[in-house]
Amino acid sequence: MDDQEKSSKIERLRKQIARCKRCRLHTTRTHTVPGEGSAQAAVMFIGEAPGRNEDLQGKPFVGRAGEVFDRLLDSVNLTREEIYLCNILKCRPPENRNPLSDEIHACVGSLDIQIKTVDPKIIATLGKFATTYIFEKFGLPLRNISEVHGKVFEAETAFGSKRIVALYHPAVATYDGNKISVLLDDFRIFKSILKELSAIAEA
Ligand code: URA
Repeated sequence: MDDQEKSSKIERLRKQIARCKRCRLHTTRTHTVPGEGSAQAAVMFIGEAPGRNEDLQGKPFVGRAGEVFDRLLDSVNLTREEIYLCNILKCRPPENRNPLSDEIHACVGSLDIQIKTVDPKIIATLGKFATTYIFEKFGLPLRNISEVHGKVFEAETAFGSKRIVALYHPAVATYDGNKISVLLDDFRIFKSILKELSAIAEA
């Protein structure tokens, strides 16, 4: 798929998500939060679900967890324009409760299209829900996030090999002051993977 096709497909999907009524969350949402960034990104970050600010603005990670996320991105010289950022759920669960399994089931078709279309080299999962979904999808052995965070896994997929990086959710740093240093440490992995990938591309 060329760059233009990727952008059009992502735009068509955004419109479909805006009309989605596949689960109960459409009755309580203000806006859908489809995701944003570059449809040609080498790195895709996947969070859990929109919170209050995201629901109001229709954009991912614009609240307190978003401030942490921006700091982490900045620490590895990445910008939101260079990455693709989305969530497992495209609508806010009431009171920010955990996603329910039927909601995940109803919603991940859109995420699957985002992954296939953007076709990133690296998929970074933010928190338990994204990690569980992506590890299962790509046949990686599922372990607790405390055991896998900051590590790189390789998955062979129908559309090429992908690096999977599991990370703690940035929101943890808003209530556990020690976690920001773990997240900053874990994010350093992107520098080495991106360097390695660009060396492969230049070879
Ligand atoms: N938490 C998430 O997982 N996603 C958002 O978009 C915001 C907060």
